[in-house]
Amino acid sequence: MADTPKRRRTKPASTRAPRPEGVRLTGRRKAEQALRESEERFRLLVESVQDYAIFMLDPDGRVASWNAGAERIKGYTASEIVGQHFSRFYPADKIAEHFPEYELAEAARHGRFEDEGWRIRKDGSRFWANVVITALRDEDGTLLGFAKVTRDLTARRATQEQALRLATEEAARIEADRRSEELQRLSDELQEQAMTLEEQAMELEAQTEEAQALTEEMQQTNERLEAALAEADAANRAKTDFLKAMSHELRTPLNAIGGYADLLLAGVRGPVTPEQRQDVERIRRNQQHLLGVINDILNYARLEAGHLTYSLGAVPLGEVVASVTPMIEPLTRVRGITMEPRSCEPGAVAHADRAKVAQILLNLLSNAAKFTPMGGRVTIACAAVGRQVTLTVSDTGPGVPVEQRAAIFEPFVQLGRSLTSGHEGSGLGLAISRDLARAMHGDLTVGDAAGGGAVFTLALPAA
Ligand SMILES: Nc1ncnc2c1ncn2[C@@H]1O[C@H](COP(=O)(O)OP(=O)(O)OP(=O)(O)O)[C@@H](O)[C@H]1O
Ligand SMILES: [Mg+2]
Repeated sequence: MADTPKRRRTKPASTRAPRPEGVRLTGRRKAEQALRESEERFRLLVESVQDYAIFMLDPDGRVASWNAGAERIKGYTASEIVGQHFSRFYPADKIAEHFPEYELAEAARHGRFEDEGWRIRKDGSRFWANVVITALRDEDGTLLGFAKVTRDLTARRATQEQALRLATEEAARIEADRRSEELQRLSDELQEQAMTLEEQAMELEAQTEEAQALTEEMQQTNERLEAALAEADAANRAKTDFLKAMSHELRTPLNAIGGYADLLLAGVRGPVTPEQRQDVERIRRNQQHLLGVINDILNYARLEAGHLTYSLGAVPLGEVVASVTPMIEPLTRVRGITMEPRSCEPGAVAHADRAKVAQILLNLLSNAAKFTPMGGRVTIACAAVGRQVTLTVSDTGPGVPVEQRAAIFEPFVQLGRSLTSGHEGSGLGLAISRDLARAMHGDLTVGDAAGGGAVFTLALPAA
């Protein structure tokens, strides 16, 4: 290709040979010659341009001139192509669309038409062309033909495409990096969350285990409590049964002892000496005492087993005091103790079982008489306090130490039993009395009397 332009440059020079020497020219001819020379130079310039295909088409689109650039770009020599229709530079689909004709029509209408597209070389290969078609007209406006300038932009287009591909790839890579970073971040976050969740799960598990252990412990405690309760119940029942049985077994021979003592005293078995009478009377008194103790035990057993029945009603406390005091008088008289039944408030009427109230009062009075030294004083009082009534028995005896006040209400508890062996009894009186009081929705308590002795208070619901 490189030597083609040389050939083409030399060719016109050889065809247009210098004018014969010595021809004289007129002024007009001189001007014509100058113009011709200028046109010649211009044609040489155009023909030698290599980078652009510059050629002429006649008004029908047939190639009229061809330059070196056209030959280089399209591959045809001037002799091959001049006179051919320019549509052969177009791909088949464009020809089918009549695009070449359309181009010329547009250029003719507007003076100029520019386009970029695929064109075909002589060897059939494609190249990307920038095409400018300019309509050529004479002074009258008659269409002389078209000047066509074509540039091969295949390389530029390839470069652009490559740049675009590179840019796209770079963008894709950046996007991929960003996504990967984002994924990493998400994964980190997820991992963190998973760890937190795991920690929470572990904590929960620990708490659950703890709760389970606690529940088990509670269950065990409960079971132990239930077992202890059942055991206590059984023990209580056994105790009550035992007390009842024992009392019953003892009462029969005791009654026999009493009966035989009476027989002896009555002289049924023959005369009794005064000494013998004294002894038999002692036997009789002890038999009576034992019988009393056994009856108490039996009562308590019945009470504990809940076998007692209560007939509740209005009980004026004054009446109970009046009926019980005479029963204790023989004892107080013997011991030189004054008994002072204070006048009971008429309003002191209990809602209770009269016989049980009397039994409680008798127990309290017999204790007072028993534990108050010779010459002491026992005072009985009753009062109405709000929705309650109280019956108090105070004495001038030794009193009950604070630390013993709970104990004396337990069965078989007797304070200073060994020291005061003179006192009789089983230690059941207060236990029975308090149980009776509570069964009637009242209570029995002990405190300090004003004079230093004990004061027992029976509280009962008012009628
Ligand atoms: N008024 C009192 N003053 C001092 N101590 C008392 C008084 N009343 C009771 N006690 C003490 O409380 C103990 C329990 O009294 P409780 O009436 O229950 O039994 P007891 O009188 O000994 O026997 P029981 O009443 O069965 O014949 C007595 O043994 C005594 O030590
Ligand atoms: Mg007693």
